[in-house]
Amino acid sequence: MAAARGGRPWWWSSSSSSSSCAPLLLVLLSCLAPPSRAADTVAVGRPLSGGQVLVSKAGKFALGFFQPDNSSQQWYVGIWYNKIPDHTKVWVANRRAPLSDPDTSQLSIASDGNMVLLDRARSPVWSTNVTGIAANSTVAVILDTGNLVLADASNTSAVLWQSFDHFGDTWLPGGKLGRNKRTGEVTRLVAWRSYTDPAPGMFSLELDPGGASQYVMSWNGSRQYWSSGNWTGDMFSSVPEMMASSADPLSLYTFNYVDAENESYFFYDVKGEVVLTRFVVDVTGQIKFMTWVDSAAQWVLFWSEPKAQGDVHSLCGPFGVCADSGQPACSCLRGFHVRRPQQWLQGDHTAGCARSTALQCGGGAQPAERKTKSDRFFTMPDVNLPAGGVSAAGAAASSAHDCELACLANCSCSAYSYNGSCSLWHGDLISLRDMTGAGNGGYRISIRLAASEFSGSGSTKKLIIGVVVAGVVAAVTLAVVVTVLVRRRRRTKALRRVEGSLMAFTYRDLQLVTKNFSEKLGGGAFGSVFKGSLPADGTPVAVKKLEGVRQGEKQFRAEVSTIGTIQHVNLIRLLGFCTEGTRRLLMYEHMPNGSLDRHLFGSSSGHGGVLSWETRYQIALGVARGLDYLHEKCRDCIIHCDIKPENILLNDAFAAKVADFGLAKLMGRDFSRVLTTMRGTVGYLAPEWISGTAITTKADVFSYGMMLFEVISGRRNVGQGQDSADAEGARPTMGMVVQALEGLVDVNAPPIPRSFNVLGDASNYVKFFSALPSG
Ligand SMILES: *[C@@H]1O[C@H](CO)[C@@H](O)[C@H](O)[C@H]1NC(C)=O
Ligand SMILES: *[C@@H]1O[C@H](CO)[C@@H](O)[C@H](O)[C@H]1NC(C)=O
Ligand SMILES: *[C@@H]1O[C@H](CO)[C@@H](O)[C@H](O)[C@H]1NC(C)=O
Ligand SMILES: *[C@@H]1O[C@H](CO)[C@@H](O)[C@H](O)[C@H]1NC(C)=O
Ligand SMILES: *[C@@H]1O[C@H](CO)[C@@H](O)[C@H](O)[C@H]1NC(C)=O
Ligand SMILES: *[C@@H]1O[C@H](CO)[C@@H](O)[C@H](O)[C@H]1NC(C)=O
Ligand SMILES: *[C@@H]1O[C@H](CO)[C@@H](O)[C@H](O)[C@H]1NC(C)=O
Ligand SMILES: *[C@@H]1O[C@H](CO)[C@@H](O)[C@H](O)[C@H]1NC(C)=O
Ligand SMILES: *[C@@H]1O[C@H](CO)[C@@H](O)[C@H](O)[C@H]1NC(C)=O
Repeated sequence: MAAARGGRPWWWSSSSSSSSCAPLLLVLLSCLAPPSRAADTVAVGRPLSGGQVLVSKAGKFALGFFQPDNSSQQWYVGIWYNKIPDHTKVWVANRRAPLSDPDTSQLSIASDGNMVLLDRARSPVWSTNVTGIAANSTVAVILDTGNLVLADASNTSAVLWQSFDHFGDTWLPGGKLGRNKRTGEVTRLVAWRSYTDPAPGMFSLELDPGGASQYVMSWNGSRQYWSSGNWTGDMFSSVPEMMASSADPLSLYTFNYVDAENESYFFYDVKGEVVLTRFVVDVTGQIKFMTWVDSAAQWVLFWSEPKAQGDVHSLCGPFGVCADSGQPACSCLRGFHVRRPQQWLQGDHTAGCARSTALQCGGGAQPAERKTKSDRFFTMPDVNLPAGGVSAAGAAASSAHDCELACLANCSCSAYSYNGSCSLWHGDLISLRDMTGAGNGGYRISIRLAASEFSGSGSTKKLIIGVVVAGVVAAVTLAVVVTVLVRRRRRTKALRRVEGSLMAFTYRDLQLVTKNFSEKLGGGAFGSVFKGSLPADGTPVAVKKLEGVRQGEKQFRAEVSTIGTIQHVNLIRLLGFCTEGTRRLLMYEHMPNGSLDRHLFGSSSGHGGVLSWETRYQIALGVARGLDYLHEKCRDCIIHCDIKPENILLNDAFAAKVADFGLAKLMGRDFSRVLTTMRGTVGYLAPEWISGTAITTKADVFSYGMMLFEVISGRRNVGQGQDSADAEGARPTMGMVVQALEGLVDVNAPPIPRSFNVLGDASNYVKFFSALPSG
């Protein structure tokens, strides 16, 4: 493990030298100019102003004025990547104090030797604030590491101040994130307030203030909502991904936790500087590890925590509700509206939502009016409860009705939940989470609203309008049904135009087959899937509406016919397709038992109940066979890129069939799309994903391993539990994770055949399974 580096900072060795001069003209150009005139330096008499930009020696980072939101006159001095098109900011000097005009402002060296940022009135808005520097003796240099240092002009190794000790939201390779044990000073990452406001926001990451060797994320500096777990020697206990990375000799990264006499810190670096990477505490309250992928020309998310957005405390603010899979994740509760729409749109939800109609409570309503006017409750069926509920004892606890009355009796009560015991919330509702569709039946909560928020409160006018509308709707529906039936007769014949082994359909054919896309089976990375049946013989089929296909028709046809030739008992069969204008659809055989995730994670009350070990084994083996076929036996090797339980379908005999293969190719090499739709499993992506080029079949083996673990445990590797404590509890224990990882990390050479062995060898199989608690 790397020891703390004493003496000169490590980053210094590779950069900055007043260098022996090169021959010819360069001699004149560089040697005659004094060193202080370098374009990476701020010196006395050489301030930075307006549109000027300083660039580090090798051109990696730039320092200058920028405007995060060009609709407002708010300017900042910051550092950004100079070589990538979107100039991602990594550090901002004046986070709290924007300038109104860059041309009259300047970053300069003050007479006391500090670096200061002066506004148009020449008063300082930001300063390095170091004491005891000799006057007229310092320069500031932007380095190729992204570090801005204030150093002695005659010896730039003598650093007086550096931006790496004062992080913003971004932590670059080589920086130390930790604590000085003597001064108690910490370096912490603090998110921007919104995407266009660099001011310090609510979310931060720092070394545990309690002194433990773990990192914690907190809200408003105090409320902790995530921790990395303590350092075990080669990883943090809740970040098993690191182990996979440190066990791989080809890994580009080195991660180290250093606990030295005077300081403890975490340190990471990238070998050979071949890729750009950064950790950032995002506006969403998550710590994200991002990698620049040249071929995709964008930042790709490699890892993030907490995995589920809803685990971030108060992400959506008071009376906001978070849906983990929602886009956007935050919305307001019924009866509430966004308090500050401008900020909300930019990702700043701290102001939350405001009540649209004031409560009746405390309004002095007469007893006679109470009946019609008193507050009512709107019930949300499937949520994780907000923070801060108090349980009401006594009479309130005896029934849901009594619990409701207990809430109505106190004007500050804003919600109740009854599940055999009664919980009440007073004031703001924070961190309410919509779990609809998460499959593990959350709680019910009843939100207090003004009675007028409920429509249909007995008005006869409304009733009449309702009846009229219903009549019109019925008539229109009837007309449509008749039309469809007539057309259906005409069209049935035209349905099949065979192309190779595939049927080509028109869009209208597929509307007919799916009853106008009325029965949705699910949604996946590439689009939604609908149930249908072939008019000729009623064969059930699944029709997938692809979204975001950029391929032209010819290429699409070529690709689809390749996929059409792939037939294996463990691969879903493609039956037909449709390409019309920009529409692209695929028709597959229908699998009556749906996808594997429902059986693994769904409520056990669902049909079929818990899968037997034998079935699980058969499923695991089937998936492995299907993948093996894709990887080795097809004419063109196909990498699936998105192996997960959602993409494993089960036929009536619970035989596994891999779905969605070949689609990654069909969509083009659209990394971010593939990656971001991976159900939060980004943490378990094979490391080679980041290289941007060398994706091999091993990527699937990695994902298969992670899925195998879910098949065995019957739980998500990434849990979406009942509340934040349960979320933690749903995660596998480290022992389990390590075993899963070892089973895979050990099988390095030819991936599929070896992992077959793990499964195929009965003694391994028994060992592996019996080592795990049943569940
Ligand atoms: C703001 O920036 C965007 C994107 O760079 C650009 O399209 C737009 O014209 C700019 N607006 C103003 C007012 O400069
Ligand atoms: C500099 O330090 C002083 C006291 O140490 C503090 O009051 C002042 O706000 C600091 N200025 C800046 C720009 O950080
Ligand atoms: C620093 O240098 C400037 C100009 O070079 C000079 O005017 C000033 O007196 C110097 N200050 C000190 C404290 O030496
Ligand atoms: C420059 O500063 C570094 C760090 O303080 C020190 O180790 C080194 O001896 C200095 N070099 C000279 C030439 O003074
Ligand atoms: C954040 O914490 C500060 C004190 O540390 C407190 O004054 C402030 O009200 C808190 N903000 C919110 C939104 O709770
Ligand atoms: C880390 O260690 C500290 C004590 O040193 C303990 O309080 C804390 O709970 C540990 N964290 C985890 C996640 O186990
Ligand atoms: C820790 O700080 C003390 C006092 O500044 C110093 O004497 C000691 O050498 C430092 N230890 C290390 C390992 O740097
Ligand atoms: C309402 O509940 C709050 C919080 O529990 C409590 O402080 C307050 O006294 C209650 N008011 C009444 C009228 O009971
Ligand atoms: C009711 O919900 C509370 C959490 O609010 C939980 O602690 C308790 O176990 C639940 N009771 C039942 C019967 O589910």
